[in-house]
Amino acid sequence: MAACGKMAVLDKVILVLALRWALTAGDDRWEAFSQPGWQHGARADQENSIIVLLALRQRNLDLLESRAKAVSDPGNREYGRYLERDEIYGISGPWKYDVDLVKKFFAPHPGTLQFSYGGDFARYTCTIRCIEKVFNTSLTIQKGPVAPGTTPIRASEPIRLPAEMQRALEGTSLNAPLFMPPHPTQRTESAFKYPKSGRKAPRVRPFLLAGDQFVSIHFVAYCKDHFVNQDSIEDGVCTSSPHSVLITAFDIIVLQAQTNTQKVVRLPAVPDVLGQKVGRTDDGKPCVEFNATLGSVANYASTTVRIRSLFSDGSVSDFSQADEVLPVWPMAYTTPALLSRNYGIPMHEPVRHPRNSISVAEFLGQYYNPEDLESFFKLMGVRAWSTKEKLQLIGENLPMAGSVLGGEAQLDIQYITALASNVSALFWSVPSIELATRQEPFLDWLMQLEDTSDQEMPLVHSVSYSDDALTMPLWFKQRINAEFMKLALRGITILVASGDDGVSGGFVAKYGKKYCGTNREEFPSSSPWVTAVGGTQLAQENVPVCGYTSGKVVVQCPQDGEVVCTSDKGGGITSGGGFSADFPRPWYQHEAVEHYLNQEDGPVPDQDVLKFNRSGRAYPDLAAISSNYLVLMGDDLQPTSGTSASTPLIAAMVARWNEDRLMNRLPPLGFLNPLIYQIFSKHPSAFNDVQIGDNRCSRSTCCDVGFRAARGWDAASGVGTPQFKTIAAILREEALLAFGGRFGRMAPIAMSESTSGSGMGGDLASVGLIPLLAFQSLVTGLATLAAVWACGHCGRRGSGSAEALGARRPLLSAA
Ligand SMILES: *[C@@H]1O[C@H](CO)[C@@H](O)[C@H](O)[C@H]1NC(C)=O
Ligand SMILES: *[C@@H]1O[C@H](CO)[C@@H](O)[C@H](O)[C@H]1NC(C)=O
Ligand SMILES: *[C@@H]1O[C@H](CO)[C@@H](O)[C@H](O)[C@H]1NC(C)=O
Ligand SMILES: *[C@@H]1O[C@H](CO)[C@@H](O)[C@H](O)[C@H]1NC(C)=O
Repeated sequence: MAACGKMAVLDKVILVLALRWALTAGDDRWEAFSQPGWQHGARADQENSIIVLLALRQRNLDLLESRAKAVSDPGNREYGRYLERDEIYGISGPWKYDVDLVKKFFAPHPGTLQFSYGGDFARYTCTIRCIEKVFNTSLTIQKGPVAPGTTPIRASEPIRLPAEMQRALEGTSLNAPLFMPPHPTQRTESAFKYPKSGRKAPRVRPFLLAGDQFVSIHFVAYCKDHFVNQDSIEDGVCTSSPHSVLITAFDIIVLQAQTNTQKVVRLPAVPDVLGQKVGRTDDGKPCVEFNATLGSVANYASTTVRIRSLFSDGSVSDFSQADEVLPVWPMAYTTPALLSRNYGIPMHEPVRHPRNSISVAEFLGQYYNPEDLESFFKLMGVRAWSTKEKLQLIGENLPMAGSVLGGEAQLDIQYITALASNVSALFWSVPSIELATRQEPFLDWLMQLEDTSDQEMPLVHSVSYSDDALTMPLWFKQRINAEFMKLALRGITILVASGDDGVSGGFVAKYGKKYCGTNREEFPSSSPWVTAVGGTQLAQENVPVCGYTSGKVVVQCPQDGEVVCTSDKGGGITSGGGFSADFPRPWYQHEAVEHYLNQEDGPVPDQDVLKFNRSGRAYPDLAAISSNYLVLMGDDLQPTSGTSASTPLIAAMVARWNEDRLMNRLPPLGFLNPLIYQIFSKHPSAFNDVQIGDNRCSRSTCCDVGFRAARGWDAASGVGTPQFKTIAAILREEALLAFGGRFGRMAPIAMSESTSGSGMGGDLASVGLIPLLAFQSLVTGLATLAAVWACGHCGRRGSGSAEALGARRPLLSAA
C-alpha cells in the first residue's frame, strides 16, 4: 500500500465515481450512479490516491445456493452442516484465467493490486492520474448537493476496459478511500421567536418535549397590557409593565386524547417551579421564556398542553390556542432492564462459551467510549463481568469523531454487552465508502469477512446500515446477496436493520412527499440472505379493542404491549418494511407472506395507491423495540431510536440461543430465516404478534399509505417480536429431536488478537453516511427540529450521570 501516505492529505474529500458503460448500454454493472442535482465541476487532484474494488466473476453460484438452503433449513438433513471457508471458495472462487487476466491487465500500471482470500475480490490502489489512465476516463469534483464537509469526485465519462476485462468482472466499485468523516459540528438549537405583543394568553412554544411519563413545555407570558413579559420570576412577572399588574401563577391543562383525560395543574410564578431563560420575539427583542416539566402523563397518548395566566388583580387570561401547539406522544424510556423484562432475556447470566461472539459493523468512523460503557453498566444496574477485556476493535476507533457521530456505536456496544453479558464483542469498523454516491462500504466489509478465518469469525453480525435499494446497481446487490449466501454456508448469522423510514425509504425524509406512493425498499435489509429486523414501540393501545367506544363501553387497555414503531406516534422513526423489486420471494417465507397478502381486513394497500411487487422478497422478518433507548454519551443519557437499536438487541438474543447450542456441542444457528418462519408456523406464540400500526411515515414526513400491521406476519413488523425463553425452549427441544446436524466445524478458541483485514481498515476513512439511527425525535412531524434540540446536549457535560438524569425528571406531577 505504497500510496497510503497520501491519504491523510485527502481529508474531507469524497471520491465518488459515477460510471457509465456506453459501449454496453443496458449493462447495469457500469450504469451511471447519481443523485438528484449532481453536476460535474473541476478536475480532481491528480495526486490523490483512491481504491477501486473489483468484483471478479464467480463460479457455481447455483450449487452454492442449494447448499446454503440445505444447511440453513431445520427440516433438511444437512441442517447445521456448515462448510469451511476453503470448501466454499473451492466451489465458487474465480476462474484462474480471470485472475491471471486481471493481474496481467494491471501489471504495467503503477499502484498496488491485492486479492481477497478467495480471489474473487481485488483492491486496486492508485493515484487519480493513474486511475484515469487505467480506466480511460476523467474524474471531476462533484458540485451540487453533497454531504457537508465533503467533496465528492466522480467519473465524467464512462470507464472503458478491454472486452476481456469486462467479461472477467461482475462489476467495479471504483470506490474511493473516503477520508475522514466531517468533524462533528456542535449543532445549535435555533431559537424560537415569540410574537412581540397583541395578546394576553401565554404563547406555548409550538413544540414540546416528551419522555417517560412527562412533558416539558416552554412558553412566554403576555402582560395585561398585551406586551410580552421581559421580567424574571425573581423580579416579578410583568413587573415592568406600565399597568404593573403582575402574573402570579399559570394554569396548565394537559389533554390526552387516547386516555380521555384532562389534567390541570396550577404553577405559582416562583423560582424552583419554573425554569427561565432569555427568549426572543419576532422583532428580536428579549423576553423571558419559562419552562416547566409535568409528570404522570400516560405514555403513547397524543398529548396537548394549553396555558393561561392568572393576574394579581384577580383576572385571568384566555387559554392559549390548541392549534398553536402540536401534540406530542410521551414515550417510555428503553433500558436494558425493560428489554430484559419485556422479552424474558436473562440479563445476569454471563455467556461462557469462548467461541460465542458478536460483531457490530460500523461504517461511519464511529466511536465508542469504554469509560461510558462502564458508567452505563453502573447506571443501568448491569453486572459488567469482564466486558471491557472482551471488546475487540477491528479497524480504527476514531475518538475525534466524538460523541455525536458515535451514537450508533455507543448504542450497539452498550446494549449488546448489557444483554449478552460476557460475550466476545467485536467492533468492526470499516471506514471507507462503496461506489458512487453515499453507499456504505458493504463490499469492502464483506471482503474483510472473507479474509477472516473460520476460527476468528464472529458468529453473529449486527448491521445497522441500509440504504435505498433503487440507488444501487443490480450487480452490486446481487454480489452482496452472494456474499451473504457464503456467510450462511459458514454458519454465520447476519442481522440487518430494516430501516427507519417506513415504506417509502429515505427519499421521503430527505426530498419530501413526492416520493410517496411507491414502496422504496432498503438494501441490504431486503436481501433474501439476511434477517431484517424491524422496530416496535410500547403502547397501551396494542390490540384493536383498545379505545373502542360504544354506548357506555369505553375500553381502556392498561397493559403496555408492542405496536409498530412510527414517527407520528412519538416513536422517533418508522419501521422499514415492504417488498423487494429486485429479488423474488424466498422459499422460507412463502406461506407467511401469502397469508398477509390475503388478509380480509385489508392491511395491504391496493396497487393503485402504493406500487410494490407482491412476489418480491418481503421484509422485515421479525422486530423488537426500537424507540427511546437511553444511551450514555459522556455524562448525558440520550434517548435514541432506530431499527439500529432493535438489531443489536436481536443479536444479543441470538448469541444467547447460540450459547445453548455451543455448550451442547451443536453448531450455531447460522442464517436464521428458515428457522424463524418454521418456528412461527409451528409455534406462533413464540412471537408477540404486533397487530397495531403501519409504516406509512418516514422518520419525519408521513405518506398517506403504507403497510399495516396485521395478525401473523406483516410488512411492518415481520412475524412479531421474539419471546426469548419460549424460543430457547423450542430450540432445545428441537435439538433433542430432529434439528441438530452433526457437530459442525467448531473452533474451540476465543477471538485471537489479529484478524486479516484489520490493517486495511486503518488506512481508509469514511464520510458522513447516514446510519439508521435517529436521535429521539420527540415531536410529531418535527423530527428534524427535535433532533437539533437533542443534539444541543450531545457535547455538553453535566456534573454527573445521576444529575443528567435528574435534570429531566419532572418537578411536578399533574394532579
Ligand atoms: C480511451 O478511449 C478512447 C475513446 O474510445 C480511445 O480512442 C482511446 O484509445 C482509449 N485510450 C486507451 C488508453 O485505451
Ligand atoms: C428548564 O429547562 C432546563 C433545560 O433547558 C432544565 O434543566 C430545567 O430543569 C427546566 N426546568 C423545569 C422547571 O422544567
Ligand atoms: C466469560 O467468558 C469466558 C470465555 O470467553 C469464560 O471463560 C468465563 O468463565 C466467562 N465469565 C463468567 C463470569 O462466566
Ligand atoms: C416482480 O418480482 C418478480 C420476482 O422478482 C419478477 O419476476 C417480476 O418481473 C416483478 N414484476 C414487476 C412488475 O416488476
